[in-house]
Amino acid sequence: MSGTASTTRRFTFSAGHRYHVPAWSPEDNERRFGRLTVPHGHNYTLDVTVRGAIDPRTGMVIDLGELKRIVQETVIERFDHADLNADALFRERVPTTENIALAVWDLLAPKLGPDRLARVRVWEDPTLFVDYDGS
Ligand code: NI
Repeated sequence: MSGTASTTRRFTFSAGHRYHVPAWSPEDNERRFGRLTVPHGHNYTLDVTVRGAIDPRTGMVIDLGELKRIVQETVIERFDHADLNADALFRERVPTTENIALAVWDLLAPKLGPDRLARVRVWEDPTLFVDYDGS
């Protein structure tokens, strides 16, 4: 039996952020972002999906321990209990859920391979998530 499948592993991290564009005046930031300019935190959920052929020996798309280790070392250790605005990844971009998804992709694609990494889904809370697939 052979085939291609997508496998998703879920991770969580807690991080703080604020929406703020340094080049704008405080008034412009307030107008655009409102209360989101005030530092606050979220318990994020991250779903990482890899796609590929099912290895006929293991029956798996990817070694699940390897996937867990890569995401932990590359993303979770960096973002958990971090001030996202202080991370170099967000020096030039506001740490919105959209931009966090892009940043996670940029961190993981070199480790997993862009052909194997299929999708990154970042949940800011149970009512909001953003998908990014590298396109
Ligand atoms: Ni927020």
